Amino acid sequence: MSETMSEIHDPDAPQSTSDMAMTGRMDVSAVLEGAEIPEVVSNIVFDLANVRVFYGDFEAVRDVTMQIGRNEITAFIGPSGCGKSTLLRSFNRMNDLIPGARVEGLLAYHGFNIYAPDVDPIEVRRRIGMVFQKPNVFPKSIYENVAYGPKVNGMKVNMDDLVEECLTRAALWDEVKDDLKKSAYALSGGQQQRLVIARCIAVKPEVILMDEPCASLDPIATAKIEDLMKELAKDYTIVIVTHNMQQAARVSERTAFFTADVDAQGVRHGRLVEYGPTRRIFTAPHDPRTEDYISGRFG
Ligand SMILES: Nc1ncnc2c1ncn2[C@@H]1O[C@H](COP(=O)(O)OP(=O)(O)O)[C@@H](O)[C@H]1O
Ligand SMILES: [Mg+2]
Repeated sequence: MSETMSEIHDPDAPQSTSDMAMTGRMDVSAVLEGAEIPEVVSNIVFDLANVRVFYGDFEAVRDVTMQIGRNEITAFIGPSGCGKSTLLRSFNRMNDLIPGARVEGLLAYHGFNIYAPDVDPIEVRRRIGMVFQKPNVFPKSIYENVAYGPKVNGMKVNMDDLVEECLTRAALWDEVKDDLKKSAYALSGGQQQRLVIARCIAVKPEVILMDEPCASLDPIATAKIEDLMKELAKDYTIVIVTHNMQQAARVSERTAFFTADVDAQGVRHGRLVEYGPTRRIFTAPHDPRTEDYISGRFG
């Protein structure tokens, strides 16, 4: 089954009939509503030049050159195994935690190479937060989940105020304000994911990386997270991996399409095929591989 066909049956995808035409060709009405944005990224947060990511000898991602714009939502799409998560994890040195993983090329954050020897990866991860597919709430109260990062970082703040502010920003406060001492496990999956986002923004990051944040959520919870992302993008830079093209079309300003090439030894290596304003990628892609993918001919 092709990647695109599996999206049609994706139980996590919003069940809107307008999402996918019967032909498998995507309905691009969501991208046509958005404002026109220029091809070139002007306010650069991340500047990647020939970035390659390896696991031991295996080159999982080849030669990525791209720039991520401030206060934009950038979506990574493409079939599974093409290195989207691997590349995303390289943005905040999360791959450091995987033995054998290494990054080559230049990955600059505000002009600084985040892989330079004097850079503290813990500080990188405070500034560049990450939200995963499965909400990884801590076995603690709702309050403690949000307060955890600021406490560990020794932030001098009024904790009650900060917890309220972050839960409000994560669109969760009204639902939990009377239950702050309750276990985070008592929340639904969608609420847990918003709690994780509240915990992420509590340490005052600039960037939020999200790896398929809605993949384990139902359509209503997914819609809430998408609304929240658009709201957060006013203050944060967001990079999201999604296997759901409609989600990329709905939320992102820019889309990067990745695929995997097979080398002479039969090994698959992920690569960036095309990157640009989401509307252009979905309506007038330059590369035939992008065209095939978005029109459901992939696979
Ligand atoms: N921790 C790891 N160790 C070794 N190989 C990995 C690891 N994580 C991912 N890979 C491999 O790297 C390639 C890209 O994987 P991934 O980044 O998860 O792709 P995607 O997110 O696009 O599905 C795949 O071939 C995958 O098997
Ligand atoms: Mg992935």
